[in-house]
Amino acid sequence: MPGGWACHSCHGLQGAGEGSGAFPRLAGQEAWYLYKQLRDYASGTRYNAVMTPIAQTMTDAQMQASAAWYAAQEDTPWPPRPRVDARVLQQGGALHAVGVSARGVQACANCHGEAGWGMGPSFPALAGQYADYLALQLRLWKAGERRNSPLGVMARIAAGMTEEEIEAVSLYYASVRPEPRR
Ligand code: HEC
Ligand code: HEC
Repeated sequence: MPGGWACHSCHGLQGAGEGSGAFPRLAGQEAWYLYKQLRDYASGTRYNAVMTPIAQTMTDAQMQASAAWYAAQEDTPWPPRPRVDARVLQQGGALHAVGVSARGVQACANCHGEAGWGMGPSFPALAGQYADYLALQLRLWKAGERRNSPLGVMARIAAGMTEEEIEAVSLYYASVRPEPRR
């Protein structure tokens, strides 16, 4: 793993992320997706006051190496599941599986996989991610502040979601533990 930035001080020694969810889990995420995020932080299509300056000091090879390292940490332990009201879980599960077509909210499972574990190189896993982090990303897309999804797909989806739906789907994913991927 490349030295000098101590990624682990925020993302955990094995990429488990941390605490209230300000620091996302990176472990086991697709390498291409992680690499793309580092490039997007550096270019500013995904601006973050912490990650943008860090990414701007990295070379392309360093971005690729750290992305590959985190992607390989599939055995990193999961945090305890949050306690979630059954009704909220059900609402989140319905968004995952069906979406809300009347408002242009496609089923998340179409792209993020049947179990929420991601699909191919560009659709990240949401299962097992911290709820606060997921909700923050959906709000940033809705507000037009995160602008890096291909063809603006996540901006359109987030724009159609209510605050209640954003919270429910985020808590749902934080409660799911994915099947082993390979
Ligand atoms: C000082 C704390 C801190 C350090 C050090 C840090 N990060 Fe981050 N990282 C964050 C925060 C906070 C976010 C979420 C920001 C946001 O909302 O976009 C994040 C997000 C990310 C993401 C996006 C994850 C996703 O699911 O989209 C990647 C990739 C990432 N960091 C990689 C790294 C790497 C690689 C390093 C070391 C070179 C590093 N980070 C160092 C705090 C940190
Ligand atoms: C048509 C495909 C598609 C659908 C449907 C979709 N997404 Fe996404 N989503 C993406 C792509 C592509 C990305 C990665 C964007 C990028 O490169 O930053 C993404 C990223 C995300 C992220 C950021 C993850 C991270 O680690 O930062 C969240 C959160 C998310 N989607 C939530 C949802 C939710 C909730 C739904 C259902 C209501 C949904 N998505 C439906 C394509 C989709």
